[in-house]
Amino acid sequence: RPRVLSGIQPTADSFHLGNYLGAVRQWVPLQDTHEAFYFLANLHAMTAEYDPEVLLRRTRVSAAQILASGIDPDRCTLFVQSQVFEHAELQWVLSCLTGYGEASRMTQFKDKSAKQGAAAASVGLFTYPILQAADILLYTPQVGEKDFQVPVGEDQRQHLELTRTLAGRFNHRFGPTFVEPNAHILKSVAKITDLQEPERKMSKSASSPQGIINVLDEPGPLRKKIMRAVTDTGTEIKYDPEAKPGVSNLLTVLSALNGTPIPDLEAHFAGAGYGQLKKELAEVALETFGPIRERTLELMNDPAELDRILAKGADRAAEVAAATMAVVRERAGLLRRR
Ligand code: TYM
Repeated sequence: RPRVLSGIQPTADSFHLGNYLGAVRQWVPLQDTHEAFYFLANLHAMTAEYDPEVLLRRTRVSAAQILASGIDPDRCTLFVQSQVFEHAELQWVLSCLTGYGEASRMTQFKDKSAKQGAAAASVGLFTYPILQAADILLYTPQVGEKDFQVPVGEDQRQHLELTRTLAGRFNHRFGPTFVEPNAHILKSVAKITDLQEPERKMSKSASSPQGIINVLDEPGPLRKKIMRAVTDTGTEIKYDPEAKPGVSNLLTVLSALNGTPIPDLEAHFAGAGYGQLKKELAEVALETFGPIRERTLELMNDPAELDRILAKGADRAAEVAAATMAVVRERAGLLRRR
């Protein structure tokens, strides 16, 4: 079976709707068609100032949410990035192949460092995309295999491009080792936007609490946030991201959650007001996230069991990572220990 891999940062107590639709939900069916590797990118979550206890808690609650969303540790490999040491090691090898200027062009770094003030940004934030390249390439299929997908949202496209570049560069310098991965971006849900600022993407770090729908939101606040979502002037419920970014985002989300194509939704809401759209969306969101929330809370009641599941995943991931790294060390001229 072809390989697929993706990761998510445990940087909040809950995933938001963008993470869910753009990534996690797509991971679920891929478990059956692919050999899937999914992980919590806790090393990436260290790139901005953080509290160790909070990181630990978020690592577990993120894992619980992934499991509650339908990821099955018996059908895929689910693990925590830091438990597979080769991620950090391959990152070093790849960072020696990355140009300083090349890394400086990563737009996510430019945005985030501009916000913190360039001098305050950590070197880890700067090398973040190289660690991401290592995350992916450790799980490379055999050279010659074509299908190597990484399901992500639109904001990760540039990091995937860098990963392809670094894979090609390593292969060229040291011999064919890595398959270049393809970003698997589902256009319809590639960029879910903020409820309060519908021109901007919904973001753990940049959105206001009112702008974000969290998977673990309680029903009351969740409904309230949807009902207060910014809509547009006019009254017509029509998909037009340029003229009606707010309404279009709500339609996108409703369509993704209930499976009704957007034109059918437009017909369904003909003559209805924005309030009706929001009400139906709130219902579907509650139906979708209610069970995930309950299951997450259940899983959090037994952290030892959660840790066991993750350790098992890490063992399996480490086998693959160790095999890749053995080849990388040899090709890169690193002396063997034994
Ligand atoms: P992270 O944790 O920021 O986001 C996790 C996933 O959610 C997607 N996403 C969105 N999709 C649609 N609309 C949105 N508003 C939205 N916001 C976030 C992201 O595109 C992502 O797929 N660097 C990665 C984590 C990572 C990774 C990897 C991913 C580390 N190593 C290797 C793939 C492969 C990140 O910050 O994701």
